[in-house]
Amino acid sequence: MILIKNIGELVGIVPAGVLRKQGAEMAETGVLRDAWLAIEDGKIAGFGQMADLAVASTGSATAIDARGGMVLPAFCDSHTHIVYAGSRDGEFLDKINGLSYEEIAARGGGILNSSDLLHETSEDELYAQSIARVREMMGKGTGAIEIKSGYGLNPADELKMLRVIRRIKESVPALVRVTFLGAHAVGRGYTHEEYVQVMVDMMPQAAEYADFVDVFCDEGFFTVEDTDRLLSAGAACGLRPKIHANELAVSGGVQVGVRHGALSVDHLERTTDVEIEVLRGSSTMPTMLPGSSFFLGIPFGRAKEFIGAGLGIALASDYNPGSSPSGDMRFVMALGCIRMRLTPVQALNTVTLNSAYAMGLSDITGSITPGKRADLLLTRPGWTLTKLPYLYQTPFLRTVFLGGRPLE
Ligand code: NIG
Ligand code: FE
Repeated sequence: MILIKNIGELVGIVPAGVLRKQGAEMAETGVLRDAWLAIEDGKIAGFGQMADLAVASTGSATAIDARGGMVLPAFCDSHTHIVYAGSRDGEFLDKINGLSYEEIAARGGGILNSSDLLHETSEDELYAQSIARVREMMGKGTGAIEIKSGYGLNPADELKMLRVIRRIKESVPALVRVTFLGAHAVGRGYTHEEYVQVMVDMMPQAAEYADFVDVFCDEGFFTVEDTDRLLSAGAACGLRPKIHANELAVSGGVQVGVRHGALSVDHLERTTDVEIEVLRGSSTMPTMLPGSSFFLGIPFGRAKEFIGAGLGIALASDYNPGSSPSGDMRFVMALGCIRMRLTPVQALNTVTLNSAYAMGLSDITGSITPGKRADLLLTRPGWTLTKLPYLYQTPFLRTVFLGGRPLE
């Protein structure tokens, strides 16, 4: 047993059985001051106040003195593209010089550029480059990660990506969920129609690796009709959708996603009240990606209005080489507060419980709840929840626990 004592603030306490927060609940989280927390068999065994800690129960435990530091749930990042080869720093210069994401893509840059690089990179090298990103993310406090394919853009290279994601999943203490995003862009050498058919046809093979199916349902990429076909093919193989929608235009992606029972619809930089209405009462988690709004200079999602309408929100990093080259979830939380006007408690819920929900993992991680995995962050002394997004670049972490073990 590990016993963490003298915790200044234990935040993110959620009763068992609460799988997501919506509307006014977003402003709530359980907090205990002067607390202890016990870890046993990799799980949260219990917590309470120091004043009530029985001396007898500390006997057989490895004690860690938090010295007034904060303990909170590890971050959950429900949307990433961290398996990619090389870099797109050349396009970064194009962007600085004024080209938009769409203009870069139209010139053969963007996703197709990453697909060419991935094609030329060996599977071992792709794994080595990608696992380094996962290690960086875990080191910054992320304990659960969704990883998408989508830079292969032909069956052989998509399967190469899915194998690399599986290998990552088997190698790290973080929880990994796998998404098949064959329909990220039309691969080279195919017509649009041919490509959609090829992706439909490879769905059973992809389903051997993937938990979810994703489609970039947006202007210039895949239509609502394409999405409908691909999601139906995914459902036939047991894959639940998590889709890219409404980044570049009001695309109809939210509607088709909700109709197919999507676990999440992601991006949502461009939405109207119609999308809010469609999401109300659904089991779909609206997920916003403020790192890509920041990097691309496009609108931030209307998080406050979604919450005001009674919806929950998750935030994720979208870590990828083209629109969000960072997997720093504390920065995502800070953008949520600074640019989307979320309170620190709302922001915490977006990057823990709700983002765990958006991966189908909120029954086992994403909050301080007895019986859940001990995926926890212990901060240095003096930190509070409000300081986390406020002092958004100051080192705050002391120890990351994943499955109850301190990360080395
Ligand atoms: O979520 N929008 C589509 N896909 C990624 C970007 C991928 C890329 O540019 O490489 C995103 O932003
Ligand atoms: Fe994305």
